Amino acid sequence: MMAVSQAAKLDPRGWREATQSPIVFMAYMNRGREEVSHYAKLSQDLGFAAVGITMDTLRPTKIGDELPLSTKDGKPRKGFAASPKDIEWMKQQVSLPVVIKGIMSPEDARVAVNAGADALVVSNHGGRILDFNRAALEVLPDIVEAVGSRLPVILDSGVRSGGDIVKALALGAKAILTGRPVAWGVGAFGPRGVARVFELFSEEMKRVLCMTGVPSVAEISSKIIIRDGN
Ligand SMILES: Cc1cc2nc3c(=O)[nH]c(=O)nc-3n(C[C@H](O)[C@H](O)[C@H](O)COP(=O)(O)O)c2cc1C
Repeated sequence: MMAVSQAAKLDPRGWREATQSPIVFMAYMNRGREEVSHYAKLSQDLGFAAVGITMDTLRPTKIGDELPLSTKDGKPRKGFAASPKDIEWMKQQVSLPVVIKGIMSPEDARVAVNAGADALVVSNHGGRILDFNRAALEVLPDIVEAVGSRLPVILDSGVRSGGDIVKALALGAKAILTGRPVAWGVGAFGPRGVARVFELFSEEMKRVLCMTGVPSVAEISSKIIIRDGN
């Protein structure tokens, strides 16, 4: 499954042509409700699996000392306020599941669920928002405990190996997302490089499952994890 940002090149039609995989359209509310609604409805018409909102970009990421320039008007990018009302609004635009990304606390998880979220992505945006934030994996168990019985919780940020995937699943994630490893695969060998990244993840997962005595992914549980203080 691919989660594609509204900030990406092309538009939902281009993404649909580029892959057979299920796609999740990830909106940025700073693009304005009109554009977000248009993209979300188009995504639904094109058979996407879900739509989502990235809620954590209250201030834009700095690269070095610079704010990247907007592709819209060439000026430094701006942040935007994010509110549960955006979730309620998105639920009225489409009948697809609505995924909320950028959740880093049980309190925010509860707010998102009460506003109608259908899945949560625990993510610190790959450390690009606050480089001293807690790791997504660290906050995952508390969020799973708070809302995990009500909806799927997905782990994003910092996944670098099959072992990281097994740990996330053991701590209650229903799935994981990975960002930069995919970009590194593209940079190294194009599409073949991306396939290789996922082959490596898969081989590493098999090795970790074997060494922890877990017969299958479905049987991964917190029993294989020792946490500080436990
Ligand atoms: C160059 C770059 C651009 C990104 N742009 C977006 C974006 O437009 N929307 C979004 O939700 N996340 C964006 N992200 C964050 C990724 O979707 C993902 O959350 C993050 O990379 C996960 O961490 P990882 O790279 O450690 O796997 C971006 C990340 C990078 C490295």
